[in-house]
Amino acid sequence: MDIVHYSVLWKEALEYLKPDGDNQLFIDGTLGEGGHTELFLKEYPTLKTVGLDADADIMKVAKERLAPFGGRTRFFNTWFNQFYREYPLGDERPDLILFDLGISVFHYEKGNRGFSFQTDEPLDMRLGGDLELSACDIVNQYPEKELADLIYKYGEERYSRRIATALVRERKGNPIETTARLADIIRGSVPAAYRHGRIHPATRTFQAIRIVVNGELVRLESVLQDSLRVLKPGGRMGVISFHSLEDRIVKQFFKYKNQLCTCPPEQPICNCGGRRTVEILTKKPICPSEEEVRENPPSRSAKLRVVRKLEDEDV
Ligand SMILES: C[S@@+](CC[C@H](N)C(=O)[O-])C[C@H]1O[C@@H](n2cnc3c(N)ncnc32)[C@H](O)[C@@H]1O
Repeated sequence: MDIVHYSVLWKEALEYLKPDGDNQLFIDGTLGEGGHTELFLKEYPTLKTVGLDADADIMKVAKERLAPFGGRTRFFNTWFNQFYREYPLGDERPDLILFDLGISVFHYEKGNRGFSFQTDEPLDMRLGGDLELSACDIVNQYPEKELADLIYKYGEERYSRRIATALVRERKGNPIETTARLADIIRGSVPAAYRHGRIHPATRTFQAIRIVVNGELVRLESVLQDSLRVLKPGGRMGVISFHSLEDRIVKQFFKYKNQLCTCPPEQPICNCGGRRTVEILTKKPICPSEEEVRENPPSRSAKLRVVRKLEDEDV
């Protein structure tokens, strides 16, 4: 078994999500190759874990890696928002919840589904086998304005219009089916200075398409509410995000749940009971140390935010 992903902010995750009793339940909503879960199982010998991942291929790696922990681990090959919406564990509620958003180095290096522009692969980007629309469908079927808008909104790409125009021009009579061709078209459509900038000119467009294919931000918004509902009072939830779009959603959700009154601002009279349902444990997001970034450069954009749940909302 060849592990390629380094778990980010692992020391901080272990510390902020340290169990405060025996036999507690930790749910890793983004299991990946099982790096964080393995660290938790090793560090906390009575902890029980549940690991979720939408991708069946990466889950095979995690299952093999975590096999030595036997009955302390359980696995669900599912989208995290679906899991928490349906919550198949009934009365068994988690004490600790972690999300480490996005995709794994595994996907870039071994996914063979077009996540990376460094190698030539079929343009797909679907994490879950249930998704109908692939990256190839989006790039070849979306109208120019929709393409430009999604590249701008989800990639925060300032050359989104030029890129969309080039994609629509190039796909006529010759569909864009591989990552190398997509990356080439993007490269050719942006100003020369940008082509030789700090990041590859296709980085933001690839991120945008991946977010849309997998509905990443919509799933994040819904899972925060549903997982907090399931979390035991007194339990803690940590979320590691990798870009400002994700972090904004997490920050605003935690802030909202931390306010005494959660009525909408336009509502003149409070009828929410004015309860604060979480305590924010990270006033500022936790970022990787210089040492971690040196050892694992992809960790540089990671941000960890953690809350403690104070009480159930519907009590
Ligand atoms: C950054 S990796 C996790 C790495 C892991 N924490 C480790 O240390 O090895 C994120 C994982 O979450 C999965 N994932 C992303 N979004 C998901 C979602 N909405 N539901 C379930 N799994 C998801 C991806 O397939 C990927 O394997």
